[in-house]
Order: sequence, then C-alpha cells, then structure tokens
Amino acid sequence: MPAVKRIGILTSGGDCAGLNAVIRAVVHRAADAYGWQVIGIRNGTAGLLARPVEHEELGLAVVTGNILRMGGTILGTTNKGDPFAYPTPDGHLIDRSDEVIEGYRQLALDGLIGVGGDGSLRILRDLARKGGFGLVGIPKTIDNDLGLTEVSIGHETAVVTATAALDHLQPTAASHSRVMVLEVMGRDAGHIALTAGIAGGADVILIPEIPYSFECVAAHIERLKKRGRNFALVVVAEAVKTESGDQLLTAHVGGQPTYGGIGHYIGEHITRLTGAETRVTVLGHVQRGGTPEPRDRLLASVFGVYAVDLIAAGRFDRMVAWQNRQVVDVPIAQAIAQYQAVDPDGPLARTARGLGICLGD
Ligand code: F6P
Repeated sequence: MPAVKRIGILTSGGDCAGLNAVIRAVVHRAADAYGWQVIGIRNGTAGLLARPVEHEELGLAVVTGNILRMGGTILGTTNKGDPFAYPTPDGHLIDRSDEVIEGYRQLALDGLIGVGGDGSLRILRDLARKGGFGLVGIPKTIDNDLGLTEVSIGHETAVVTATAALDHLQPTAASHSRVMVLEVMGRDAGHIALTAGIAGGADVILIPEIPYSFECVAAHIERLKKRGRNFALVVVAEAVKTESGDQLLTAHVGGQPTYGGIGHYIGEHITRLTGAETRVTVLGHVQRGGTPEPRDRLLASVFGVYAVDLIAAGRFDRMVAWQNRQVVDVPIAQAIAQYQAVDPDGPLARTARGLGICLGD
C-alpha cells in the first residue's frame, strides 16, 4: 500500500448538526497522529465539478476554536446534482461522473472521507469504484434511516429540537384548550416523530410506517377530553400520507420537491371530527441547524477519528457505524441497502402504546 500523505473530506446531502465536529476530528487525527495534510472539498461533489476544483487546506488552525460548537458545515454541501444523472438547464440528465473523478484526481489525494446519508454515500461509492480511489463513509442524517448503524450524526440534535418544540407547545395548548399538531422531518422514516413524540409527551404520533385512521385519532382525542384533558399534542412525520394514500409534497424552485403539508391536513380533519380548535406548527429546517447536542459532538468525534484510522489501515469502501456501544465499520454497500425504517413492533412503538399514545391504528 502506498504511503498516505494527503486525504480529502467532503460533506454531502442535507446539512445537520455535528458536521463541523466531524471535520475537526478528522483534521486532528490526520494531522496529530499521522502528519497528513487534509484537503476540504467544498459543496460536496459540486466542488469537484467546478474548475478550478473548489477546495481548501484544513490545518489545525482552521479547526481550533469554535467549530466543534457550530451547526451547518464550514465546507458547504449540496443535496442536488447527482453527477451520474446531472440535470441540464434544458431539462435533460447527463452523466458528469468523469468530470468529478478528474476533479478528484487533480487534488492528488490518497483517500477520501465522505460524510453523507444513504443517497450521498451511494453516489460517492459509485464514483470511488469508477475512479478507482479509496473511500471511507461517515453516516450523517437527521432522519436516522441508514442501515447497520444504530444512530447517525445529526439525529440527536433534531430529536432534541422537536422535543423542545413540544415542550413549548404544551403550555400554550393547555392555556387555550387546543389541539396542537407538530409536523416534523424525517423523510420516509418516522424516527424523529416517534422519539421526540415519546420524549415530549405527545398524545398522538403518526408515522409513515404505521397506517392510521381518523376515526381512531378522533376517538383518542375524545377519550382524553372525557378524562378531563383540555388539550392534546399530535406529532406527524412529514411523509405520512393522507387517509386515502396521497403523498403531500411541497415544490421548490430549482430543487426537488420535499414532503410537506400533512400537518395542516391532519389538523383540519381533527377539527372537523372533534370540533377541537387546532393549530399547526411545521418545524422544518430548525431541526437541521443549531448547535450540535453533546451526543452528536461525541458521535462525530468518534466517527471522525475512526475514519482516519481506517484510511491508515488501508480499509476502504467501509462506513463507520455505531453498534452495541462500540464504533465499528461495515461495508458501505450493505449500510445503504439496509434501509432503517421504524419497526412498528419495535421497542419504541411498544413503549408508545404502553404509555397510551395513539399511533393512529
Ligand atoms: O434528509 C434530511 C431532510 O432534512 C429530510 O428530513 C427532509 O425531508 C429533507 O432533508 C429536506 O430537504 P431540503 O433541505 O432540500 O428542503
């Protein structure tokens, strides 16, 4: 194996809290333990497509100070522009992977650390295989839907934010005798909704993995009323469908549509069926930004150090993962293949039911 002297790092996909803590850990381990140079590639694969390639050297001076505490990513990121199917202004998709690989070669790197979710890691892996370069993946996603790791960077901070939102909604719900609906992110998985819903004392939690009926939700709210409760908290994951199975999407200029709108739909139907006064909060990107919670800083630090050690050992095509209180590494391909949805019969769903929370079914 040729000696490593210079490695690259990029962040890809939607940002989340803890990305800067990963960058910091990678630079520390690479520079302090191995004396390597670390090159930060800007804006994910978009930086490798740009000419000149967008990059900067990340020395220890860059990572000392505040970046451990900072949300976002100092490198920038992108969640659009798959280089294998790159959209052109006239609406076609073209393969620009060779340009990205050429950009990577121009940096003369001995390996790349890619910090991303399932979509980004799939693209990076395809690029690494096509270009014949070494890749180590670090999982980050507030959605926590990547397989083979119990948790990914950013999820904890999103859950804390969603739980805090419920803490803020409860007193105003009780003061006005209202039903408060909170729509949270999570893409196709209900992890944020279920976890924050339990922690934040929700009465109803609707997630895409469990089909619901309004009959059941309304009956639960009526039951609470009969018991003397004058308010209710409802958490809805953004990918929950309408009762008839339609997916609600929000269109964006220059970007892919995202899930959105189900909170208002659920709120309207609760009012119609129960007569309750309802208000809806869509939490949105507040869940992505902000100061990383200690657990995200820790996970990012552990993953960053371990990823550099994988490169030192010449162990590529691996993703760092957290399993059974240990940091381990798994094949990137397997982590991507094993999508991690909420288990409708798993411990958290059972706990929610045990607490009398209505899961809509
Ligand atoms: O995957 C992370 C995530 O925040 C999802 O929970 C959400 O559906 C999506 O990204 C939002 O994407 P965008 O940043 O493009 O609005």
